Order: sequence, then C-alpha cells, then structure tokens
Amino acid sequence: MNQLDLRSKAFQANPHAAYARLRRDSPIAGVQLPIFGAGFALARYADVSEALKDPRLANDPANAPGAPDPLGQWWLPAVFRAVRHSMIFSDGDDHRRLKNLVHLAFTPKRIEALEQRIEQVTDELLTSALAKGSFDLITEFALPLPLWVISELLGVPEADRHVFRDRMEGLLDSSLGPLQLVRNVPAAFQTMAFFRRLIADRRREPGDDLVSALAHAETEGPRLSEDELLAMLFLLLFAGHETTVNLLASGTLALLEHPAQLERLRAEPALIGSAIEELLRYTNPVEQSGARYAREPLTFHGVEVPAGRMVILLLASANRDEAVFTEPDTLDLGRTPNRHLAFGLGGHYCLGAPLARLEARVALPALLRRAPNLRLAVPASELRWRGSLNLRGLTALPVRA
Ligand code: HEM
Repeated sequence: MNQLDLRSKAFQANPHAAYARLRRDSPIAGVQLPIFGAGFALARYADVSEALKDPRLANDPANAPGAPDPLGQWWLPAVFRAVRHSMIFSDGDDHRRLKNLVHLAFTPKRIEALEQRIEQVTDELLTSALAKGSFDLITEFALPLPLWVISELLGVPEADRHVFRDRMEGLLDSSLGPLQLVRNVPAAFQTMAFFRRLIADRRREPGDDLVSALAHAETEGPRLSEDELLAMLFLLLFAGHETTVNLLASGTLALLEHPAQLERLRAEPALIGSAIEELLRYTNPVEQSGARYAREPLTFHGVEVPAGRMVILLLASANRDEAVFTEPDTLDLGRTPNRHLAFGLGGHYCLGAPLARLEARVALPALLRRAPNLRLAVPASELRWRGSLNLRGLTALPVRA
C-alpha cells in the first residue's frame, strides 16, 4: 500500500499525477492529516461513491469503537471544538434532525429570492474591479460575492458586514495547521461572540433570515441547542464560503487556460449549466471528503482497515477516474453525462449545492460578458495554491481586463 503525502509541495502543485498513480497501482493509500492523524484514503470513483453511502463508515467518531476524537483534543481552542456539534460530524437521527432543521430555513424559495440581489452585487463588484484594469480576481470578486451571499442568508445586518468580512477573512484563511489555529483564535472568539449576539437579537426580534428561522425552528425532536445553532452557523460559514470562492476562482483559471472552451461558452451561453458541472468536476473546490471512521473492521482491495480508523475519500481523484469519465483530464464544457462527486453523495450530500450553482451561474457569465479580454496578469506557473486541509484553492488570481 502506498503512502500519500497530501501536504508535500510536489503533491500540492500537481495532485492529479499522484491520484492517477494511486487509481492504477494502489487504490487505497495511507495518509497522515494534521489534527486528524493517520488513516486511509480511497482513490477510485467506484470505491469513493460506495464509501460515501456506506453505513459502516461514521462521520461522528463517537459512533466508531476505538476512534480518536480529533476535535476534542485538549490543546485545541474551545471555539474550534464547537463544530463537533454540527451535521457534518454526526450520523443517523442526529444528522437527519440537524439537516432537516436547516432545510426548513434553506428553502429553494429563499435561494431563488436571492438571485436578483446576487446579480446586483455581481455587477457592483465587477464595476469597481474592472475600473482598476488589472486586479486580483479573488479579493475583488470571487471572495466578496460568496461572503455577501452568506451574510445575507444568515441575516448579518448591513452595518456589521464589513466587520464580519474582516473577521471572516482571517478565520477562513486557516489551513487547520496548529499554528494557523492559534493565530486565528481571536478572530474565532470574536465571531463566536458576534454569532451569540446575532442569535439573541433574532430571538428577540425575528427577521426573514436563516438565523431567525433556525432560532425559532422546531421539528418533532427538540429544538436546536445553543451549541448546535452556533455549530450550524460556523459550518455554514466554513462550508459555504471558501468552497464557492474556489469554484469561481479555479473555474475562471480553468477557462483562461482553455481558450477554445472559453470561446465555446462565450458563443453558446446556454452551455453554462453543463459548464458549471464540468468546472466543478475539473477543479474540485473540495478535494477530499471530511473524515469517516470505520464502525467495524473493513477490507478494501485486500487492505484491512481496523475498527475506529479514519478513512477519507479522494473526491478529486474520483472525478478524474478514467473508468467513469472519457478523457478525464480534458475540460469539456458540454460533457454529458457528468456524474461528478464534487458535492459528495449520500446522506451528507452538500446542502449548499443549489446556492453554489446559482452563484456560479450568475457570476461567471457576468464576468465573461463584462471582461471580453480577460487574461492572466502573471504566468500560470507563478500562481500558488493554499495548503488547506481538504479544499483546493488559489491564494490569488491576478488578471487583466
Ligand atoms: C462550490 C461550492 C461547494 C462545494 C464544491 C461543496 C462541496 C461539499 C461536499 C463535497 C460536501 C460533502 C462532504 C463530505 O461528505 O464529507 C459538502 C457538505 C456540505 N456543504 Fe457544501 N459545497 C459547496 C458550497 C456550499 C455552500 C454554499 C453551502 C452553504 C451555504 C454548503 C454547505 C454544506 C453543508 C452544511 C454540508 C454538510 C452536509 C451534511 O453533513 O449533511 N456548501 N459540501
């Protein structure tokens, strides 16, 4: 069994060469993650899609005998332990209760209602960025748009948004290394305090927003506890923000690096739906699933995974699996079928997929329309990728309009 070093510079620069080798020679590999420790990774589409639906793999380590409790470690700042109460770290009834509650608030109607506002903000951001001629697409566009959307959904008052944005930027920059965690403690504390105040305000004076809906939500089970509500807000923020930033930025880069495909999309704007799916498959804003834990001893390709051991699923590798996708390394904006796993699969399938798709459907065509000569402002070899734990995104994307 091979060992996959997810943190190495060589891997970060070109993960797909390593993934292709794993799919061919060693479809289960050993991995070592910061905080989460040692475990296994699956590389083939068939294994990844099966595992995402496999009830023998738990998201909550408490449901797998002998599993460690990575987020409960004494040295971790308490604020980071909060996310332990969120749906991504829960299974079964607990998971269903949390997901159903947020579904009550995260309705297609609420998302559709956002569309016009997303168009407006997109236009404003582009007007100010394009006036500069050359700019960082992430700072000026790919980052503020999803941040605005999530603030709007959570009901962060207009007046507080710039403060919220500053804090979020510090917090969301973290790649979960111990040093970054410590550096982000003050921002995390401030955000926690901010959310607590927001929840109290919305309990007193409900508005037509997600926090109000969640604070008042009741289903057949008990209401959300304060800890669960806080965890939910943190999760929505983490899951809903940098992921979409990555889709917009890496998606734009993929288009710029494939001029024929870019021209095809300009000539045929109706292609945008399949184009977004292909950009998701090709760029993989979320590279790997969250941690899963074996509830019982499991065997993959002759390798035994003892009960309690961590397994992660290499979504980005599955999305380039030649057994499923024809010419998987080719960007084909009209690709059909395209059963990519960029949003996961099964019970933990991404809650924000409709929202992320909507943001991309508005933002990318507007960018292409308003910047007909968009190009990279530096050689592609100078672009750098963040070392985040399971996300893949650029640190900056300097462009010229
Ligand atoms: C391009 C953007 C996005 C991508 C690629 C993405 C990808 C994913 C993936 C792969 C998972 C499953 C992880 C796993 O099974 O371990 C997931 C879960 C989740 N995502 Fe997204 N996501 C995106 C945007 C969003 C947005 C905008 C939101 C919310 C505002 C969101 C909220 C969530 C939540 C709450 C979960 C956990 C669901 C559960 O545990 O049942 N995501 N996402």
